[in-house]
Amino acid sequence: MNTSTPSVLFVCLGNICRSPLAEAALRVEAARAGLAVEADSAGTGDWHVGSPPDPRAQATAKRHGIDISGYRGRQVTAEDFHRFTHIFALDGENLKGLRRIRPSDGTAHLGLLMDLIPGREGSGVTDPYFGEDAGFEVTWDDVSGAARAIVTMLQDAR
Ligand code: 4NP
Repeated sequence: MNTSTPSVLFVCLGNICRSPLAEAALRVEAARAGLAVEADSAGTGDWHVGSPPDPRAQATAKRHGIDISGYRGRQVTAEDFHRFTHIFALDGENLKGLRRIRPSDGTAHLGLLMDLIPGREGSGVTDPYFGEDAGFEVTWDDVSGAARAIVTMLQDAR
């Protein structure tokens, strides 16, 4: 499996703010680097299954050159641990939730997204949902930095 195209799943709580932006940022950075990678996102919660990303997340992605209006929320499943090579949690609570549903024979590498950024290890990407619009730019900066680190990691692994 690991000799095929890498596949990365980002997981937050609602799958309408942080993880869709992380998915989008990886698509942007991978395209920039000419790297083939599959990207997807999901939530540990089920409130927004079938919903498009938050309008503020859509606007942020658009400002950075990617249209995420067609993304739809879905809930993460145990099967995802067999479908993806890498699963990244956007914060520690979601990492705990992922550890609870991870099957013992799951093959995906599971990690905390910000662990990829020197100096940010152990931290979460702040949820911008209940905050000001500007919080979504902070989210974009965080997930873009992590996406660049993922691209470098995947390139080094080839
Ligand atoms: P996300 O943000 O986890 O970054 O998608 C949230 C969006 C909605 C809710 C929580 C977090 N909610 O409780 O509805």
